[in-house]
Amino acid sequence: MAAPIVNKEYLQEIEKARRDLRALIYSKNCAPIMLRVAWHDAGTYDAKTRNGIPGGPNGSIRNKVELNHSANKGLETAVQICEEVKAKHPKITYADLYQLAGVVAVEITGGPSINFVPGRKDSNQSPPEGRLPDAKLGASHLREVFYRMGLSDKDIVVLSGGHTLGKANKRSGFEGPWTKEPWKFDNSYFVELLEGQTEGLLQLPTDKALVEDPVFHRYVELYAKDNDAFFRDYAVSHKKLSELGFTQPSSAPKVLVTLTIAAIIAALVYDKCKSFVQDMKTLV
Ligand code: HEM
Repeated sequence: MAAPIVNKEYLQEIEKARRDLRALIYSKNCAPIMLRVAWHDAGTYDAKTRNGIPGGPNGSIRNKVELNHSANKGLETAVQICEEVKAKHPKITYADLYQLAGVVAVEITGGPSINFVPGRKDSNQSPPEGRLPDAKLGASHLREVFYRMGLSDKDIVVLSGGHTLGKANKRSGFEGPWTKEPWKFDNSYFVELLEGQTEGLLQLPTDKALVEDPVFHRYVELYAKDNDAFFRDYAVSHKKLSELGFTQPSSAPKVLVTLTIAAIIAALVYDKCKSFVQDMKTLV
């Protein structure tokens, strides 16, 4: 599908959708599932796909076939909630809408502001099942999945901090929240990871892998100690995740404007130098 034209009108619709999402997420208390739908749409990205299906933040999670992937159990609720916003702002692509929902979910629960750049294309093609991480596995599996997306060890740890929100439900084979305040976005996921197993709180095998692996462990310690560092790095990694395989549509005109300004300045400087040399010659 074609990329949306990101003009003034599109940007205005994005701002209206942002407000609608704030109200909906607040009234339906659904920030965790909205963050999860954004992550599951984006997290299928395969940076090295040549002729296959790249996946990534392209709205394909709305397709029945992808919603039926076992990792996406329960996410149809989030897709339906987003449909209410899509009905009011049909110009906005699903791909942009789901990523905007993720950004708003983090912000509305007290997390960092994440710079949102619109212009993602929708896709009707869903990636094959099995690209999202399996919670029952360990560090090498996490690396395999996130490296495939082009993400790093730091991204793996800081993004896992998204489990500060929400809870697992029986359907996934796990149950319970990761933190004592699952509606609040902060670094308590990392604090709990280091505490060990607080009664009533969940730690997936993949969560435990973050403590056991020495490279991951260093980031866990940093974020448990320093909420500001967590917010700063989370905002960067979340933006990266939400833009996998996406190039800003406005970047070409911006480059042209920059080059034109540089050419004008160069011409003016050259002209000034030429007249200065001529003046000097006359003086001599
Ligand atoms: C690192 C690998 C990850 C694994 C193995 C994993 C696994 C899981 C599992 C098993 C659940 C429970 C699902 C259910 O029972 O419905 C869950 C929930 C959740 N995940 Fe992850 N996840 C990972 C990374 C992430 C990332 C990167 C984010 C966000 C940036 C995230 C955000 C969430 C949220 C917010 C929930 C709660 C959803 C709710 O309460 O409805 N997860 N995750």
